Amino acid sequence: MEKKTFYITTPIYYPSDKLHIGHSYCTVATDAMARYKRLKGYDVMFLTGTDEHGQKIENKAAEAGVTPQQFVDNIVEGEKGVKDLWKLMNISYDRFIRTTDDYHVAAIQRIFKKMYEKGDIYKTTYKGKYCTPCESFWTESQLKDGCCPDCGRPVVEAEEEAYKFRLSKYADRVRDLLENTDFLLPRSRVNEMIHNFIEPGLEDLCVSRTSFKWGVPVDFDDKHVVYVWIDALFNYTTALGFMNDKYPESDYNKFWPADVHFVGKEIVRFHSIIWPAMLMSMEMPLPKHVYGHGWLLLDGGKMSKSKGNVVDPYLLAERYSADALRYFLLRDFPFGSDGNFSNELLINRINTDLANDIGNLLSRSTAMADKYFGGKLPAEQAEGAEDADFLALVSGLRARYEEQMEKYAFQSALAEVFAVIARANKYIDETAPWVLAKNEETKPRLARVLYNLAETLRLCTVLLTPFMPTACEKIFEQLGVAENGRTWESAETFGVLSQDAELHKGENLFPRIDAAKELAELDAIQEAKKAAATPAEEAKPELPKVEITDREPEITFDDFCKVELRVCKIIACENIKESKKLLKLTVYDGEKERTIMSGIAKWYKPEDLTGKNVGVVMNLAPRAMMGGKYTSEGMIFAADTEDGAAAIAFYPDSALGKRIH
Ligand code: MSP
Repeated sequence: MEKKTFYITTPIYYPSDKLHIGHSYCTVATDAMARYKRLKGYDVMFLTGTDEHGQKIENKAAEAGVTPQQFVDNIVEGEKGVKDLWKLMNISYDRFIRTTDDYHVAAIQRIFKKMYEKGDIYKTTYKGKYCTPCESFWTESQLKDGCCPDCGRPVVEAEEEAYKFRLSKYADRVRDLLENTDFLLPRSRVNEMIHNFIEPGLEDLCVSRTSFKWGVPVDFDDKHVVYVWIDALFNYTTALGFMNDKYPESDYNKFWPADVHFVGKEIVRFHSIIWPAMLMSMEMPLPKHVYGHGWLLLDGGKMSKSKGNVVDPYLLAERYSADALRYFLLRDFPFGSDGNFSNELLINRINTDLANDIGNLLSRSTAMADKYFGGKLPAEQAEGAEDADFLALVSGLRARYEEQMEKYAFQSALAEVFAVIARANKYIDETAPWVLAKNEETKPRLARVLYNLAETLRLCTVLLTPFMPTACEKIFEQLGVAENGRTWESAETFGVLSQDAELHKGENLFPRIDAAKELAELDAIQEAKKAAATPAEEAKPELPKVEITDREPEITFDDFCKVELRVCKIIACENIKESKKLLKLTVYDGEKERTIMSGIAKWYKPEDLTGKNVGVVMNLAPRAMMGGKYTSEGMIFAADTEDGAAAIAFYPDSALGKRIH
C-alpha cells in the first residue's frame, strides 16, 4: 500500500539579518510536526528556505558594500547562517528553497506570464501614497496616522506604471473559503481577516515594482520586477517542480496541495487571502490549511534587530542543547497565541521538566536496575497494588497525545506526556523500590516496578522524539530499547520493552542549571550585544552649541500661515553679468513660472540647481533689483552656514507645488 503523504512548510525567511529565536520557533514547530508525521508512517515533505529578493535586501547589501547575491549567500550559507542554525537545531527539512535559485526565478516568470495572459494580471498606472525614504507605495488603509507604516514619515501622492492582480475578482470565493471551511486556523484568525481585510473590500493588488532591481524581472517587460510576495508564495509549489525542471513534476502531483503552511500571524493575510486567490487564478488546488501562530515577545514587544532586543537561538542551543531549547519553545507557549520569552522561563523549564522530571526518572530507574539487577531485570516479576492506578494513566497516552498533535497543540501534547512522567515519579515514591531491594522475597516485585518505570519511559520517549530527537535516542539507548520499541505502533501497547533489555545508567542528559549564575551571564551577554548593535543610540552624541542672537518675537499660527511656503522646481538658472553674487532663477510651482534673484552664485553653479526642487517663499512682494533691471518675485530657502556658504534644501519631485509647513 502506498504511504500517505504529508506536505508541511515554514515561511521562507528574509535573509536580511541573522535569524532570531522567533524564526526558530516556527521552524522548530514545523520540524516537530514533520517528525511526528514521519513517526506515524507518512511520506513527509518538509520544505523551508529563504525569501531573498526585495528592496530591503538590496539596501542592506549596498550598506555592506557587497552585491545582493553575495549578501544573501553569506547569511544563508555562511558561518552561523540560516543553514548552520537549522543544522544546530536539528531541523530535518527535506528541501531548502532559495528564491534566487534559477529554477525558481524561471518558474515565477512563467507563472506571472500565465496570469497575465489569462487577464488576471493587467498593466495600469498605480496611484498611491509613496514614502520616499523607504521607496514604498502604500494604500490609504495601510497608512498609520497618515504616515508610512514602516518608518512613520510623511508620504506623498505618487504614480508609477505597474501590473496589478485582480484580487477583487476572487473576493467572494476567498471569503467563502475563510468563513465556511477550516482552511485558516486557529478560527480566531478568520475573524481578523474578515473584519480587517475582506469587509473593507479587496482591491486589486499591485504585483510589480519599477523602483528597484533586485527581484525576478517580468520577462516580457523587464523594467518591472515581480512583487516579492508573488515570488515568495509560489515557492511552495516551485520547490515541488511546478513549472520547472529542477524537480520532477511527480513531486508536485504527489505532495500538492500542502497539508499545512505554518506562518506567523502578521503574514496570515498573504497566506489566507492573496495566496488562495492566486492559486484560484492559476486553477491550482488550494492548501488544506494555513495555521497562523503567535509571536514570541520580549518584554511584551516584538523582537527587532534595530531595537537590539533579539534573542540569539545559536547561543541558547549551544549552551543548553538544541533539544532543551526545542522542548521549551513548544512546551511553554501555546502555538496559536503570543508568548513572552524570557531566559528565566527557559531555565526554569529545563530545570523542572527536563532535569527534575524526566532526567530524574531516567537516572533513578536505570541506576536502580543497574544496582539491584546488574541492568537486566529478571523474568520473575510480581504485580502490586500500586500498579493499576499508575498504568491507567499510561494507557491511552498515545491517543491523548495524538488528539492534541493533530490540532497542532504542541503544548498540550507535551503536557500529556509530562503528566505521565510526573505520575511515574510518584509511583517510585509509592512503591519505594529501595525498601523492596532489601528483601529477597520482594525482588520480583522490585523487578516489576522497575520494568513498569522503564516501559513507561520508553513509551513517553517515543512520543517525545519529534521534540527532542537527540536526547530521545540516548534515552532509548540507556533503556536498551530495540528498534521495535521506538515506533509509533509500539507507543500504543504497554509491555513492548523486551524482558532481555539491558538497562544502564548513562550520561546525565539534562544537567541542572544554576539559574542565578546563568541568568547573570546571559544578561551580561545580551547587554554587550545591545551596546555593540546600537552604539549610536547608546552613546548620545554631544550636541554642538550655537549662540543665537536674533530671535524673533512669537507669532500666532495664523500669522505663520500667511506666509506661503511652497516647493518649486528650478527650471532655469543663469549667472548675470551685473553681479558676481546673484543667480537668476526661474522657478515653476506647478502652475506658473516666476523669477527669483538669489545671492548664492558663490556656492552654486547654475547647472547644480537646474531641475532641482527647492523651498520658496511665494508671497513676498516683488522687489526690484540691479537698478530695476530685474525683479525678484520670491525667495528660495537657503541657510547661512558657519563659513558663510548658503545651503539649500532639496525636495523630492513628488512634492512639487506642495505647501511647506
Ligand atoms: N519572507 C516572508 C515570508 C514569506 S513566506 C512565503 C517573511 N519573512 S520573515 O523572515 O520576516 O518572517 C518569517 C516568519 O518568522 C514569519 O512567519 C514571522 O511571523 C516569523 N517570526 C519573526 N519574528 C517572530 C517572533 N518574534 N515570534 C514568532 N515568529 C516570528 O515574513
